[in-house]
Parts: sequence; structure tokens; C-alpha cells
Amino acid sequence: MGPLARSNVLEIKPYVPGKPIEEVQRQLGIKGEIIKLASNENPLGPSPRALAALRQACGRVNLYPDDGAYYLTAALAKSFGVDEDQIILGNGSVELIEFVAKAFLGETDTAVMSDQAFIMYRIVSMIANARRVEVPLRDYTHDLEAMADAIDGSVKVVYIANPNNPTGTMVSGEEVERFLDRVPESVVVVFDEAYIEYIERPDFPDSLRYVREGRNLVFLRTFSKAHGLAGLRVGYGIGPQELIEPLRKVRLPFNINMLGQEAALAALDDDEHIRRSREINAAGHRYLSRELDALGLFHTDSVGNFVFVDTGIDCKVVFQGLQRKGIIVRPLAGYGFPTAFRATVGTERMNKRFIKALAEVLAEHREASRPPAP
Ligand SMILES: Cc1ncc(COP(=O)(O)O)c(C=O)c1O
Repeated sequence: MGPLARSNVLEIKPYVPGKPIEEVQRQLGIKGEIIKLASNENPLGPSPRALAALRQACGRVNLYPDDGAYYLTAALAKSFGVDEDQIILGNGSVELIEFVAKAFLGETDTAVMSDQAFIMYRIVSMIANARRVEVPLRDYTHDLEAMADAIDGSVKVVYIANPNNPTGTMVSGEEVERFLDRVPESVVVVFDEAYIEYIERPDFPDSLRYVREGRNLVFLRTFSKAHGLAGLRVGYGIGPQELIEPLRKVRLPFNINMLGQEAALAALDDDEHIRRSREINAAGHRYLSRELDALGLFHTDSVGNFVFVDTGIDCKVVFQGLQRKGIIVRPLAGYGFPTAFRATVGTERMNKRFIKALAEVLAEHREASRPPAP
């Protein structure tokens, strides 16, 4: 008997998440501190306001959550100046990426994405058994012109991570507007803006304005990064009501757990935590950029809370070497970058430990690959 699962499912290469600290401790028997820079989490920890709200809410977890997440939805609507029916909440923004595929992609439809963008766009399209056009990045960035060229009558969805994960590069408002002018009304454009709170560039596109202009566009955000709530899984999407309604239909009940709702609500206006997170991130980028240059390593101009580093050698060697020294980064072979890795920008102390370990690993590799003296 052959396999029972559908062939499109059999073909999926599962998502490989960043390694949890406990797993590295268990596998390598490391006793000292392990620093995880593999999943772009907030090194400052959760929003303190969220923590206070969580303590209050813990005793009520015997009850199901509010399925409509009334208070969180209302707070987001107020914060963005949109109607509540323009908002969809997800179990992390990753669930919203899936809702888009579930609601809009069938077997005869095509999804357009970059070939080296957040890998979930590929996976959800494969689950939907939709066709895919994967457009090569240009200079580590989405090639919006080529993506617009790829749109034919079968295309229903275009996924764009801005900034892109794993390269950290962004497309500007001007580029996006030129792109949107070429997108027909039959196409839903998804802007995945998981790292927006970290953006300091004034030319970053204003997705909310595009929604207000009535474009067929949904933008996705998350509480996982700057708000520091990755473990609670809360993301949201905002778009025109006609696009949000089908997304709500494919949502299963209670997808946002009670603690997630309470924490996200409290974190939403924790401006101080966001401000400190941005500040630490900007300082970290300056430090890492300088140190990576000093090590002679290529890195992109990342605007997120992570760096993309090409070491020029097998990224497994660097990943494993760093891991032995208690630093977890994300190797990017699965993204088609066999010599690159991605590392979250940490606190000053974490960044220093990371750079020291990286310099040691590279030196050890150089030593090991030196031909024996004649
Ligand atoms: C571009 C991008 N989108 C979405 C996500 C998913 O985030 P979450 O599901 O935690 O909201 C990530 C996480 O790393 C990401 O990098």
C-alpha cells in the first residue's frame, strides 16, 4: 500500500524552528548559560505590563477564552482607527498566513512569493495544493517588479515579508506603491510586517494607508517580537472587511488563548517596553555591524531585530561550533543559503558573547583547514 497522505502534503519539508535552549542543554550537556539567538525573540523579555496582566488571569484558565477576543479586537481597532470587522486575530501571525491560503487558494490558483522569503508561505501554499511562483530575490531583497511580472490570471495571493526573514532587507513605500499599481483587483497582497516595531527607516511603506485607500491588501503584525510574547502566540491582520470576513470563516474557535488575549491587550500600549526594545536593537545593530565588518564577514543591511551573516563556509560548521559554546543561531541552508546564518540582536552582553564565540569558531575552523606543514 502506498502512503495515505496527499502527495502535496508528502512533498512538504517541515518548518525547522530555532532550537530550544532546553534541547541544546540536554543534547550537549551544557551546564552554563545558553543564549538563544535563533528565533528573533525579544532579549529584554516580555512586556512588564503583560506579565502583570498574566498574573491576574492565571486563575481563570479553567474557562474557555472569549472566542471573539472582544477587548483585544476593540483595542486594536481603536489603536489603528479601523472598524473591528477589519481585524482578524491569529495564533501567532503564522496562523494568519495559513488562513489566507485556506480562504483564497485552491488547486487551480497560484501564490507568488520570493524564493528566499519566510518559508511558511511555501508550506501553506503546498497544504492548499496551490501552484507557486517563487521569484528570486534581487540583492537579498524582494524583487517587486519581477513579482508583479509573475502575476497572471491564476494568481490569487502575493506574500511579501517586509522586512524579509531571513535577509532582514526591506522594500520601500515608493517601491510598494509602484508594485500595487500593477496588481489587479483579483489578487490579495499580504504584507507580513512581523518586525515593524523595530523599523527606523522613514521610507517604510504605510500599509494602513493602502488599506484605507481600498486596496486588496492585508497586513500582518505580531506580539511575538517587540512585545516579547512569542510563547503566547498572538498575531493580528488588518485589511478591508471583504478580505477579513473570509479569513474569519476559516478560523477555528478559541484560536487565541485567554492568557494571550490578556497579555497582548496589556502589551499593546506598553510604549516604554517597545521604546527600550527598539533602543537596544539599534545599539545592538551598530555593535554587530562593526564587529562583523571587523571579522570580514558579509552581512545585509538588516532593519529587523536580527542579522543575516554569510560566513563563506558551511553554515553547519558555524552553527555547531557556536552551539558548543552555548550560542544558538539559525543556520540558513533550508532557505537556500548554505553558508549563511541568522542571529537575533541580543542585549549588549549577549551580543558580546556571540561575537567572541563566532570569532573563536572561525579561528578554529581556519586552524583545522590549514594544510599540514610540509
Ligand atoms: C516574517 C515573519 N512572519 C511571521 C512570523 C511568525 O511570527 P508569529 O507566528 O510568532 O507571530 C515570523 C517569525 O519569525 C516571521 O519572521
